[in-house]
Amino acid sequence: MNRQWLLKERPNANVGSEHFEWVETPIPSAGEGEILVRNLFLSFEPAQRGWLNDVPSYVPPVAIGEVMRSAAVGEVIESNHKDYAVGEYVTGTFGWQDYIATSGEGMFPIAKVNDIRPITYPLHIYGITGMTAYFGMIDIGKPLAGETVVVSGAAGATGSVAGQLAKLKGARVIGIAGGPEKCRWLLEHANFDEAIDYKNESVSDRLNALCANSIDLFFDNVGGQILDDVLTNLSIGARVLLCGGISSGYTANNLPPGPINYMQLVIRRATMQGFLVLDYLDQFPGALEEMHSWVNQGLIHVEEDVIDGLQHAPSTLAGLFEGKNFGKQLLKL
Ligand SMILES: NC(=O)c1ccc[n+]([C@@H]2O[C@H](COP(=O)([O-])OP(=O)(O)OC[C@H]3O[C@@H](n4cnc5c(N)ncnc54)[C@H](OP(=O)(O)O)[C@@H]3O)[C@@H](O)[C@H]2O)c1
Repeated sequence: MNRQWLLKERPNANVGSEHFEWVETPIPSAGEGEILVRNLFLSFEPAQRGWLNDVPSYVPPVAIGEVMRSAAVGEVIESNHKDYAVGEYVTGTFGWQDYIATSGEGMFPIAKVNDIRPITYPLHIYGITGMTAYFGMIDIGKPLAGETVVVSGAAGATGSVAGQLAKLKGARVIGIAGGPEKCRWLLEHANFDEAIDYKNESVSDRLNALCANSIDLFFDNVGGQILDDVLTNLSIGARVLLCGGISSGYTANNLPPGPINYMQLVIRRATMQGFLVLDYLDQFPGALEEMHSWVNQGLIHVEEDVIDGLQHAPSTLAGLFEGKNFGKQLLKL
């Protein structure tokens, strides 16, 4: 049977298992021009919570009764498609289910994994989170040697790579993450210079001690109070890069107020800019080549956090908002 999680109702606040329905349906077969894919790993991203809100966004919301949308990597087990052979690994938006029959076209076309190993890497370091870190940090942020760069959500899939890229460019990098274990990992494995544990320390006090009025670039994944704390320690002419705002929980309602300290942008002649990685799709090939080279040389440490079992998909998504993941969150089927 094909085990699936369908969206049952839209969450108003935190997402949980109650918003999804577990069903088992016959395994589909590949139609004309289609392949049948057996999912091996699912990818989890905060954006999935946003896709549950019935609001205008860069993609339509997941419909009630639809299989929960998710990127995945799987194996082709039947093929009626000239471009794909049985046994090949492919990535695509295959959803929270065991099997999908697909032509591979649509809003998120499928791609071959080819010789990339581990086969999960196209779901993060050679996929959306790696490319988000790359274009955000290298293309827009442009850290210079000797500059002070702060990254929030620093032990996550995007933040950990963004910080390491700034280090590669010669910056002094300070990461903000939740808990002593994540902070230790930032210092010992991810090559960060300093780490601030926002769950157990005063971010404001630590920023004052480490980089008072001298943050040249802030790569923000979190928003909220952390953004406010950083704004009061910017250097003159600093850049604030808005990658995400996970502290809002990506709910549709009860959003927190905007940054109270935004006038610091005026005082410090700073800029604040948002970006979406989807705008850079045509530039992925060059960036991927560079990323492959850095990873192969051991210059970027890649961390995966793998949960076992499709039954855990809803709680795994919820876990992103509780900081349960360490590096990239995946689920093995
Ligand atoms: N702009 C773009 O194109 C783009 C593309 C992809 C992702 N993003 C954004 O990048 C960010 C990171 O995404 P990701 O996929 O790499 O996820 P991730 O960082 O691997 O996982 C989410 C992390 O966010 C932290 N977090 C959760 N709630 C928080 C809160 N209330 N306050 C502070 N930190 C909190 C948790 O770490 P702690 O334990 O440290 O709390 C958690 O591990 C998200 O904001 C996402 O929306 C943007």
